[in-house]
Amino acid sequence: MAALRSTSSRLLAAAASPRSTILPSVFVRSMASVGNATVEANPKSSTDSRMKSFQIYRWNPDTPSEKPRMQTYTLDLNKTGPMVLDALVRIKNELDPTLTFRRSCREGICGSCAMNINGTNTLACLCRIPTDTSAEMKIYPLPHTYVVKDLVPDLTHFYKQYKSIKPYLQRDTPAPDGKEYRQSKAERRRLDGLYECILCACCSTSCPSYWWNAEEYLGPAILLQSYRWLADSRDERKAERKAALDNSMSLYRCHTILNCTRTCPKGLNPGLAIAEIKKEMSF
Ligand code: SF4
Ligand code: SF4
Ligand code: FES
Repeated sequence: MAALRSTSSRLLAAAASPRSTILPSVFVRSMASVGNATVEANPKSSTDSRMKSFQIYRWNPDTPSEKPRMQTYTLDLNKTGPMVLDALVRIKNELDPTLTFRRSCREGICGSCAMNINGTNTLACLCRIPTDTSAEMKIYPLPHTYVVKDLVPDLTHFYKQYKSIKPYLQRDTPAPDGKEYRQSKAERRRLDGLYECILCACCSTSCPSYWWNAEEYLGPAILLQSYRWLADSRDERKAERKAALDNSMSLYRCHTILNCTRTCPKGLNPGLAIAEIKKEMSF
C-alpha cells in the first residue's frame, strides 16, 4: 500500500479548491446535495426534515494528478443515526459508494474510524452529529498522515513503531504454579488507564512534536503502550525497555503540550504516562 502525500499539503490544496469542481453528479442519489446542488429523490419528503451538510475530504490514488478536494453531502438528520459514523455509512450506502473510510466495531473498541471531525481527532462512531443544521461539518483524515484514500490514513509507520517497543510480556522466570503469572490488586491497578488504549492514533496525530519528528519520536500512543509494559509487575525486561528509550528522540521530544490528552476519545492520559516514564528513567 503506497504511502501518499501528506494530509497537511492536501488540506492546503483542498482549501484552495473551489467547491464547484467537486460535483460528480453520477454519484448523486436520493436526498442528497453534492456541491451547491440539492437533490431529493423522494418528493414526498417531510417538510420538517432537518437537512445537514457534511464537507468531506476526498482524494483518489487512481487519479494522483488530481488535487484533493472537499465534497459536500447533505443528509436529513431525521433519517440518520446520531453519530458521525452513521452519517458516513449512510452517505456511502445511499449517495456515493466511492467514499472510503475505515470502520469495524462502531462501539469505540477497534479504533479504525479515527479521523479529524470539526478540527478534533476523534472516533466517528463516538462523535455525535451536532444538531445545529445551519453549521456544516468538516471531516478530514487524521492530520499529518499520508493518505491512502479519502479518510483512510496510512498507519504503517505507526504500527512499525508499536512493534518496536515489543508490546508483549517478556520474562524468563516460570510461573510459581506453572500456570499463571499472578499480580496483587495494587499491581493490577497500575495498568488502569493504560490497557484501555485502542491504538486509534488520535493522540499521536494531534501531537506537534510527532508531526515534525515522527520518524524518530515514538509519539504519545506508542509511549503510553510502552509504559503499559514498564508498569506491568510481571514483565522482567524493564532495564532493556528503558534503555531503548534512553536517547534524545524516542521519548524526550515530548514537551508536555498535552494535545494528546485533550484529544483521546477514550479519556486516557498519554501525557501522564509519558511523565511517568520520564520519572522512571530518572532513577
Ligand atoms: S491513548 Fe487514546 S488517543 Fe491515543 S491511541 Fe490510545 S486510545 Fe487512541
Ligand atoms: S504532551 Fe507530549 S506527546 Fe502529548 S501532545 Fe504534547 S508533546 Fe505530544
Ligand atoms: S468503528 Fe471501531 S472505534 Fe469506531
